[in-house]
Amino acid sequence: MTDRPVVLVTGASRGIGAAAARRLLARGCQVTIVARSRKGIASFAAETAGTQRLLPLSGDVAREPDCCQLVADTVARFGRLDALINNAGILGPVARLADADPGEWQYNLAVNLIGPFYLARAAIPHLRSTHGRIVNVSSGAAVKAIEGWSAYCVAKAGVTHLTRLLAAEEPDITTVALRPGVVDTAMQTMIRAEGPDVMTPAKTAHFRQLKEENKLLDPAIPAGKIAWLALDAPPALSGMFLDYDDPRIGDEIEAS
Ligand SMILES: NC(=O)c1ccc[n+]([C@@H]2O[C@H](COP(=O)([O-])OP(=O)(O)OC[C@H]3O[C@@H](n4cnc5c(N)ncnc54)[C@H](OP(=O)(O)O)[C@@H]3O)[C@@H](O)[C@H]2O)c1
Repeated sequence: MTDRPVVLVTGASRGIGAAAARRLLARGCQVTIVARSRKGIASFAAETAGTQRLLPLSGDVAREPDCCQLVADTVARFGRLDALINNAGILGPVARLADADPGEWQYNLAVNLIGPFYLARAAIPHLRSTHGRIVNVSSGAAVKAIEGWSAYCVAKAGVTHLTRLLAAEEPDITTVALRPGVVDTAMQTMIRAEGPDVMTPAKTAHFRQLKEENKLLDPAIPAGKIAWLALDAPPALSGMFLDYDDPRIGDEIEAS
């Protein structure tokens, strides 16, 4: 146990979450990474050559006992908690609302919205004492109605408002929601694969074109912003929904 910042990052086996965890480790933080797949978590851990500053855990953020355990295990291992990054997310069901499977719709909200609630609730006592931070990874879908993504859009709108609620209720914790941009991850691969049957032709073409023209962001770009928000976001940003390129956000590489 040291005085290095302690950060819990969900959805960190790949994509934006893994890139954020790498940034935080490079900055010297003690980091808990979480995903459902043990294999994904183990392969990230293998990359870090067994550093004692990494705690790899598997868990499903849709399950409240898992969320409580993730926070408890982090505090047991590192002694405190300075930041929670609610990054784990799923897109599906990719289906028109009239055709969507109710169980899949409900699971989407459980992962994207209720999980951040469970984790924030478990983390609040620890974050109050460290004057810590919560970063909720939201999406442009929080404010745009994208055909075929109803559960995802509703959940991201919810987590953005949850951010405002947390800011209002918890003045000792700085909570922000981030729109990470359109990022080259497995989620975009799924959009290109499953979207065409349900999205409009214009939206389908838009997402394909971003990939073909190499305009998707490298996950390292939003990851740097997420790491900065988790470590350095000032209380004045609490409750805000920020774009990744908002000039009020620094980059942890520039800050270090
Ligand atoms: N990529 C984009 O263009 C984009 C745009 C806007 C917002 N976002 C948001 O950015 C965040 C990261 O997305 P990404 O693009 O990096 O996606 P990704 O590559 O699909 O990674 C998602 C991560 O979340 C984990 N995860 C999924 N469900 C989970 C659960 N129930 N419990 C714990 N971990 C879970 C996955 O691992 P397991 O499957 O092993 O659990 C994986 O590590 C998401 O919140 C997403 O909505 C992405």
